[in-house]
Amino acid sequence: MNKLLLACVLLFGLSVSAQQIASPDNNLQLTFALSAKGEPTYALTYKKKPVIKTSKLGIDTKDVAPLLNGFTIDKTETATFNETWTPVWGEEKNIRNNYNELLVTLSQKDQKGRYIRIRFRVFNDGLGFRYEFPEQPELNYFIIKEERTQFALAGDHKAFWLPGDYDTQEYSTVTSKLSEVRGKMKAAVTPNASQTTFSPTGLQTPLMMKSADGLYINIHEAALKDYSCMSLNLDDKNMVLESWLTPDAIGNKGNIQTSSTSPWRTVIVSDKAGDILMSRLVYNLNEPTQYKDVSWIKPVKYVGVWWEMITGKSTWAYNDLTNVHLGELDYSKTKPNGKHAANTAHVKEYIDFAAKHGFDAVLVEGWNEGWEDWFGKSKEFVFDFVTPYPDFDVKELHRYAESKGVKIIMHHETSGSVRNYERWMDKAYQFMVDNGYNAVKSGYVGNILPRGEFHYGQWMVNHYQFAIEKAAEYKIMVNAHEAIRPTGLARTYPNLIGNEAARGTEYESFGGNNPDHTTILPFTRLVGGPMDYTPGIFQTKISAYNPDNNSFVHTTLVKQLALYVTFYSPLQMAADLPETYNKHLDAFQFIKDVAVDWDQSWVLEAEPGDYITMARKAKGKNEWFLGAITDENAREATFTFEFLPKGKTYWATVYADAPDASYDKNPQAYVIKKVKVTSKTKLKQKLATSGGCAISVKEEVK
Ligand code: NOJ
Ligand code: CA
Repeated sequence: MNKLLLACVLLFGLSVSAQQIASPDNNLQLTFALSAKGEPTYALTYKKKPVIKTSKLGIDTKDVAPLLNGFTIDKTETATFNETWTPVWGEEKNIRNNYNELLVTLSQKDQKGRYIRIRFRVFNDGLGFRYEFPEQPELNYFIIKEERTQFALAGDHKAFWLPGDYDTQEYSTVTSKLSEVRGKMKAAVTPNASQTTFSPTGLQTPLMMKSADGLYINIHEAALKDYSCMSLNLDDKNMVLESWLTPDAIGNKGNIQTSSTSPWRTVIVSDKAGDILMSRLVYNLNEPTQYKDVSWIKPVKYVGVWWEMITGKSTWAYNDLTNVHLGELDYSKTKPNGKHAANTAHVKEYIDFAAKHGFDAVLVEGWNEGWEDWFGKSKEFVFDFVTPYPDFDVKELHRYAESKGVKIIMHHETSGSVRNYERWMDKAYQFMVDNGYNAVKSGYVGNILPRGEFHYGQWMVNHYQFAIEKAAEYKIMVNAHEAIRPTGLARTYPNLIGNEAARGTEYESFGGNNPDHTTILPFTRLVGGPMDYTPGIFQTKISAYNPDNNSFVHTTLVKQLALYVTFYSPLQMAADLPETYNKHLDAFQFIKDVAVDWDQSWVLEAEPGDYITMARKAKGKNEWFLGAITDENAREATFTFEFLPKGKTYWATVYADAPDASYDKNPQAYVIKKVKVTSKTKLKQKLATSGGCAISVKEEVK
């Protein structure tokens, strides 16, 4: 018995029947054991350093005896898996899925032999484990009171955290010691259209941490289906995190029917920050896609009739009425407010712009009836998703867009009225097919209807899933806003090409995002899947569009460019207005050129909360793109080009902050230069405060 195991036995009264498995590279060691009370426990080390100290596992139940203790080990099985799979879209062409597995079958003698399984998978980049509930006479249906999965941490780590909430992740990340969470919680909970915090030490996942001895640790979940979202509650005396599920309207935290499984609980760990960004563990724990034909799923670069509404320059609504009954108003008899952006002529301007600059699509919001009276009303019948405003000619726009080789992206704001959306869903998707749309941005602003349900509860998790699978029947790609944060399900359902589930660029118009925001999100939110962050804002003063809006973008213009590389997404928007891009066509060239699908990606430098420098190779092309971003501190980024094929010279176009640029005083100052590079080149470039650098590399033009 090794020393750690012996210590566990002595300290926690663990039985000697402990099981151990290691990662394929042997850096991670997982120990499973039962306590003297028959409680399942596990522990994890990385290069012999403790990551998760002995922690309890189990499920507290409401209607049947708890699945917490009194267990004995019936059987343990081990397996090894090693394969490489090809995602439909992604940060690399091939993903390696390599782990050692331990499957433990546990039964409760005093519950007539009722049994569950816990499956552990140890990868080189971390651990995944889940509960499995096989069908059996003694376990058929049960209600979860609370899942009791612990993550006992080895110290008071630095954490990058969001307040735990059943409805939203649209918070600024707080960076603090875990022991400081309680003191900082109140200030961290900023207002949102729908929010339900639950504990003074409640935290969301993905939770990113850094230990004093230099370990980067990320806790999240994978393959969240038919189960409620896991947040974490911190016991700040003992530094133990415990799972905290989202309840339903009557307070239950899960309705389970066997045979089924919980989602995977994930712990990604490394002594290099960049490894967290390169980890594909969450995807690897999801099932391969069963879609037979994926030819209709394509990465999308788009512009949109959107930012002008977000800034307050234009409106989603057609008129200024404040009390509208769906289907009862003849809009053509109402007085238009003159600021309705989604009108046929204006949308055509966007289509022209998209076509001219090679974009795939134009998002159009505010095209349908109901926007006058949609927000914060707990109103069931707000939109029907098929009735355009009188000034939006669906057929003509379909014809026009098609003639220019551009798609229009549909918008379905549900205003949280979910049953209403489901009532209309088939008609709404059929309407899309009939009118040439192949992608929808959906939204769930405000409290959920039926009342009492939360955005992150099991019922809503099932709704988002239903929408994705239903969309697939119609060959529609989905980008869901205000929905559950992703857990790698896009591997199985690759038509889920985007999600919001964090503070996006829109907040730059609602008061601003912190300069370190985008240096953190890739370590947190993006661990589960891509985000529709909507970068590309060149007009950093919002008052230029709306004199009443004093917000400003908390980055330099060049940092906006770099985000297309540092922020991976198969769905990338150029979010600013065409009139602004037309004034900066030289810088806009980078957004036109940058790829949205990749053969390979490399982290050159990274530290959560401080900076990220990445390089990526465009899928199927000899083109590379590099991006570097920094937080409020200016810094010098180092670009190496070792990934380039040796012995060849390439042209790099460098988009850099001007020497006197800064995000708050001089954000639009940039310089563009062309330099020759080879695989041996090392380039140092100064980034302004909240600045960046973007580089495109092409084969030498002879
Ligand atoms: C919030 C979304 O994040 C935003 O993009 C959208 O424009 C509004 N809701 C209206 O649906
Ligand atoms: Ca920082």
